[in-house]
Amino acid sequence: MNAEWRRLVEAAKEARERAYAPYSRFKVGAALLGASGRIYTGCNVENASYGATWCAERTAVGAAIAGGERSFTAIAVVADTGGPCAPCGICRQVLAEFGQEIAVIMANLRGDVEVRRVRELLPFGFGKEALAPEGVSERDADG
Ligand code: THU
Repeated sequence: MNAEWRRLVEAAKEARERAYAPYSRFKVGAALLGASGRIYTGCNVENASYGATWCAERTAVGAAIAGGERSFTAIAVVADTGGPCAPCGICRQVLAEFGQEIAVIMANLRGDVEVRRVRELLPFGFGKEALAPEGVSERDADG
């Protein structure tokens, strides 16, 4: 864990405090590090229609994309879990869209940390190359 990653975990912890989780009472925070050095945070946002819930990781990705950044080097995920908090399958898929090499820093409130790359968390995943074997051009990706 370098200083930048430690800062990312702290940012995720702060974001977690703002989670809207009245149904599960399970608060999650995420902090995504852009290639620019900017940090985008997210928390889970639950809904009375449970399936409409947003996870913390996807909230952070949405904030980053809306902020104009598409290249990421790391994401920290923090919850009050017994071990490091791993991202759910949907969030793994969403992270894979933006990079196989993104470091996923899984942490909890008691200081446990485990780091894996997206490619390790979602091996043999479905990606954009399946839709366009020759590659998706920047122009197409701008859509
Ligand atoms: N949750 C996240 O925010 N991220 C994950 O990767 C796992 C689950 C949230 C969704 C829901 O609000 C609560 O945790 C319980 O599942």
